[in-house]
Amino acid sequence: MKKNLTIVISAGPTQEPIDPVRFISNHSTGRVGYEVAKEALKRRHKVILISGPTRLLPPKGARVVHVTTALQMKEALERFFGEADCFIMAAAVSDYRPQRAAKQKIKKAKKTLTLRLVKNPDILSGLALQKRRKLLVGFCLETQDLLARALTKLKKKNLDIIVANRFSKTNDPFGNSKADFLLIDRNRRVITMRRASKKNLAKRLIDNIEVLTNCALTKDKV
Ligand code: CTP
Repeated sequence: MKKNLTIVISAGPTQEPIDPVRFISNHSTGRVGYEVAKEALKRRHKVILISGPTRLLPPKGARVVHVTTALQMKEALERFFGEADCFIMAAAVSDYRPQRAAKQKIKKAKKTLTLRLVKNPDILSGLALQKRRKLLVGFCLETQDLLARALTKLKKKNLDIIVANRFSKTNDPFGNSKADFLLIDRNRRVITMRRASKKNLAKRLIDNIEVLTNCALTKDKV
């Protein structure tokens, strides 16, 4: 019998404040994470959606936690560590944040402005350290050497599945359009998806998660 999983999904960008009216962020729309949440709900899994700022409406039935910064996203994900069977890190987390956000709006004065950035923690690697039997899914966005870099991240971050996509002039994984994806599992099995919609990507991803978690259940019984 199929086991219903508790799946924690992060989605969207993070925004790292520079001052009260400005931030550093990226082009993520959150669509992949929201599609994955929809698909998981359709299959009766419990979904906790940790969302950075997006314009999307969260799917009905998901428990939603809204966050803004990478540090808030980390804290929210860790809060659900105990109850999660699976984490899907679809969020585009800012790798750096301004060391100090100015309390007041920065006024234009000098010709140049230098911002000192500090590294944000790698949330996924942190989850992987405490992993136990939980299934971890990461994403990987590259402009070159996609397969090699995806395999390196899969191993380095101790993931069960990585979804890799290339950003190029002809393949823009942000937003609504169809794009090429690679779905690679911990056994290095590679599924190539060409011009796939995010809905289809979500379906294949949840299929694979269900296969890998059912395997784990069978092993438990032996
Ligand atoms: N990620 C994370 N915490 C970060 C940065 C990324 O948890 N501070 C997660 C992303 O959600 C994604 C995976 O790590 O699932 C890979 O993200 P990506 O940006 O492709 O790679 P990085 O590990 O940040 O490495 P680089 O930017 O050098 O390619």
